[in-house]
Amino acid sequence: MGTEKSKSEAWGSWLLVLVIAILVMAASYITLRRNFGQLNVFHHSKRHPVIVDKYADALGIALQFLMFRNISWRGDSGLGDGREENLDLSKGVYDAGDLIKFGFPMAFTATILSWAILEYGDHMKQLKELENAQDSLKWITDYLINSHPSANVLYVQVGDPEVDHKCWERPEVMTEKRPLIQVNTSYPGSDVAAETAAAMASASLVFVDQLCKFYNSSGYGDELLWAAAWLYHATRDESYLKYVTVEGNYFANWGTTTWLCWDDKLAGTQVLLSRVSFFGSKDVQDQESIALQLYRKTAEAVICEVLPNSSSATTYRTEGGLIWVSQWNVLQYSVASAFLALVYSDYMLTSSTKSLYCHGHLYKPMDIRNFAIMQVDYVLGNNPMNMSYLVGYGSNYPQYVHHRGASIPTDANTGCSDGFMWLNSTNPNPNVAVGALVGGPFLNDTFIDSRNNTQQTEPTTYNSAVLVGLLSGLITTSSLPHSFL
Ligand SMILES: *[C@@H]1O[C@H](CO)[C@@H](O)[C@H](O)[C@H]1NC(C)=O
Ligand SMILES: *[C@@H]1O[C@H](CO)[C@@H](O)[C@H](O)[C@H]1NC(C)=O
Ligand SMILES: *[C@@H]1O[C@H](CO)[C@@H](O)[C@H](O)[C@H]1NC(C)=O
Ligand SMILES: *[C@@H]1O[C@H](CO)[C@@H](O)[C@H](O)[C@H]1NC(C)=O
Ligand SMILES: *[C@@H]1O[C@H](CO)[C@@H](O)[C@H](O)[C@H]1NC(C)=O
Ligand SMILES: *[C@@H]1O[C@H](CO)[C@@H](O)[C@H](O)[C@H]1NC(C)=O
Ligand SMILES: *[C@@H]1O[C@H](CO)[C@@H](O)[C@H](O)[C@H]1NC(C)=O
Repeated sequence: MGTEKSKSEAWGSWLLVLVIAILVMAASYITLRRNFGQLNVFHHSKRHPVIVDKYADALGIALQFLMFRNISWRGDSGLGDGREENLDLSKGVYDAGDLIKFGFPMAFTATILSWAILEYGDHMKQLKELENAQDSLKWITDYLINSHPSANVLYVQVGDPEVDHKCWERPEVMTEKRPLIQVNTSYPGSDVAAETAAAMASASLVFVDQLCKFYNSSGYGDELLWAAAWLYHATRDESYLKYVTVEGNYFANWGTTTWLCWDDKLAGTQVLLSRVSFFGSKDVQDQESIALQLYRKTAEAVICEVLPNSSSATTYRTEGGLIWVSQWNVLQYSVASAFLALVYSDYMLTSSTKSLYCHGHLYKPMDIRNFAIMQVDYVLGNNPMNMSYLVGYGSNYPQYVHHRGASIPTDANTGCSDGFMWLNSTNPNPNVAVGALVGGPFLNDTFIDSRNNTQQTEPTTYNSAVLVGLLSGLITTSSLPHSFL
C-alpha cells in the first residue's frame, strides 16, 4: 500500500526491501526444510477430530492445480527458461491462464502455501496431501532460489507479456522468445550508481515502475511488513519484530481495514502478527507489545467487517452471502477473507479466547468459523447458480475456463495466433483444468461460463494457494494451532 514519506525514509526502506527479498528466500527455505524434516513447529492436539469429506475431496482437487505431474494433457514446458543466463528457471508456475512467470504473484503463492502448511500441515498429513503441498511449494521455491543467482541480482519475470498476450497456444509447444527481466544495481545509472545497497534497492524501485506494468504492486510497505513478520517467525530474530512494531510501523495503517490479495498483504500481516499476541513471546518489549496490540485490533476490525450482522459488516457482499469486492477475480477476496477468519478463529480457540466483540455483537470462534464455511460452501456450489467454482468438484462446474492448455486439444497443431480458434470455439474445453478456482460470479450472484469472459473464468495459481489454505483448515472439525514462536 502506498504511503507518502520523505525521500530519506524511502531510501532506507528500499535498502531493506532488497535485503529482505534476499533473506525471505533463505527464510522460506529454512521453513521448508523444517517442515520437510518433521512438523515439529506445530503440535496439534490429538482429539481424533472427524474428517469432513467434502472439504477433504475439495482439497485434493484444489491441490491438483498446483501440481505439475500426472496430468494427462500436460507435459514439459519452458524447459529453456533462464538458459540464456545459465540459469535453470524451468520450474515455477505461470500466473494464470497465460504463460508468463511473474515473480511477484508467484512469491505470494509460495508464502500463502507455506502459511497453509504451517497452520494446517497436520490436517494435510492425515489426508496424505502434505507431501503434495510440499512438492508444490518446493517447485516454486526452487525457482525463486534459482532466480536469485547473486547478491544483487533477482530475476523477476520470464517471458514478454506483450508478445505472450498475442498468442493462444499450449505451453508445451510455445516457441516465442522468453526474455528475462532482472532487478540489479546498475539499471538506473543514477547519481549513486553502484555505491551502496540502498542505491541498488532504489534501482529496483525504478525498475519496477518502468517494467512492471503487469502485477504492478500498488505499494511496497505492506510487503516489507509482511516479509519482516514472516522473517520474525522463521528466524525469531528480534530485529524483524522491531521493524514491524517500531521502525517500519508507518506502513502499518493501524485501524484501517484492507483485503488480502496478491497485491496487498496488510490484512495477512495483521492476522499473522496477532499470533504473537495470542500466544505470547518472550522477546516482546513494552513498545512492541503496544504495537502488536494495534496489529491485533486491526485484524479484529478486518474480521468484524467480513462477519455478517455486526454494524461494521461490509456491504461488499452478494445477496447469496459471498464477500464480493470487485468484478475481476472476485473469489480471491472471498477466499482470502475466509482463510484469515478461519485462522483467526483457530487462534482464539487455541488460546481459549472466548469471543470477539464487534460493534454490538459478540462472536464466538465457531461463529467466525461458520463464516469461513459459508464462503467455501458458496464456492463449492451452495449458491444461487448451483455452480461449483472449483473446477472438477461436484457435477456442475465451469466448462469454458479461460486457460490455454485446457482449451486446446493436445493433438492440435497450433502456433501462436491460430490457436485463437480454440479461444473462440463454442465447444467446452477438451481438457479439464482440475483444481482451477475461477474468477467467480457477478455481484448479482450470476456467472457467465464463457472462455472469453476473463474476469469470471480465468483461474490463477495464487487463488488456488489461498483455497488450499482454507480447505486445509476445514478438513477436520477441530483445529488447534499452537505457537510456533
Ligand atoms: C540490469 O537489469 C536491466 C533490466 O533487466 C538489464 O537491462 C541490464 O542488462 C542489467 N544489468 C546488468 C549489469 O546485468
Ligand atoms: C506502477 O505503480 C506505481 C505506483 O502506483 C505508479 O507510480 C507507476 O506509474 C505504475 N507503473 C506502471 C508502468 O503502471
Ligand atoms: C446473521 O443474520 C442472518 C440473517 O440476516 C442470520 O441468518 C444469521 O444467523 C446471523 N448470523 C449470526 C452469526 O448472528
Ligand atoms: C439450484 O438448485 C435449487 C435446489 O435444487 C433449485 O431450486 C434452483 O432452481 C437451482 N438453481 C439453478 C440456477 O439451477
Ligand atoms: C477469434 O475471434 C476474434 C474476435 O471475435 C477474431 O478477431 C479472430 O479472428 C478469431 N480468431 C480465430 C483464429 O478464429
Ligand atoms: C448480473 O450482473 C451482470 C453484470 O453487471 C449483468 O450483465 C447481468 O445482466 C445481471 N444479471 C441479472 C440476471 O440481473
Ligand atoms: C465471447 O463468447 C460468447 C460465447 O461464448 C460470445 O457470445 C461472445 O460474442 C464472445 N465475445 C467476443 C468478444 O468474442
